[in-house]
Amino acid sequence: MSVRRVRARAVSHGAFIVLEGLDGAGTTTQAERLARALGDRGHRVRVTRQPSDGPIGTMVRQALTGRLVLPNGAGPLTEDTLALLFAADRLDHLAAVIEPALARGEIVLCDRYVLSSLAYQGSALPPAWVEQINARARRPDLTLFLEVDARTAARRRAVRGHDAELFEADERQRRIARQYRAAIRRRASSERIVRIDGGQPIEAVTAAALAEIERVLGVSR
Ligand code: TMP
Repeated sequence: MSVRRVRARAVSHGAFIVLEGLDGAGTTTQAERLARALGDRGHRVRVTRQPSDGPIGTMVRQALTGRLVLPNGAGPLTEDTLALLFAADRLDHLAAVIEPALARGEIVLCDRYVLSSLAYQGSALPPAWVEQINARARRPDLTLFLEVDARTAARRRAVRGHDAELFEADERQRRIARQYRAAIRRRASSERIVRIDGGQPIEAVTAAALAEIERVLGVSR
């Protein structure tokens, strides 16, 4: 067998893994822990997030923290403007970061993705429209939904102690939780979404997530 053939066989496919959950569910912490664990097992891993750190994602984060608002004290950007910005950031982030990393054979761990738009923007806008503006975003190989009840999530946000962002009011979080459940039901037959009990000790959440990721890697490699 030629060297070129052997090399080609050694090139692995990437895998696109998404972490989802309410604010305070632990997606960011778990993305970092999973990246370390997968790295220790010899995988090449890229951790990233949405809203992304690109130009549109930066604009979205300014809107979430009140730096970017409507003129003359008219309040935050409208819900539909924000939904379009989240969707635009998603496609830009796919083209700029996610697709190139997958093409290099890396595992991409993305903190939030389409399901966040369906849950958050879908709690204020028609879910079918939010689905439509996100229709061109590729499906993940696996979505891990870290499930915590709204009260636990609120307690964790309080401990974290930064100023509340746009969607962090308790009543809004309860509506978002309902939309997460509805969106997962709608998508369960067409993509792999696994619910993990996010109320367990941090190590147990990582272990459960890792087992699901290894299962997907086993299938795709
Ligand atoms: P973060 O706190 O995980 O960095 O995310 C910022 C906020 O943006 C969080 O409250 C969830 C929200 N969000 C949406 O409303 N729609 C989306 O599509 C995404 C990716 C995040």
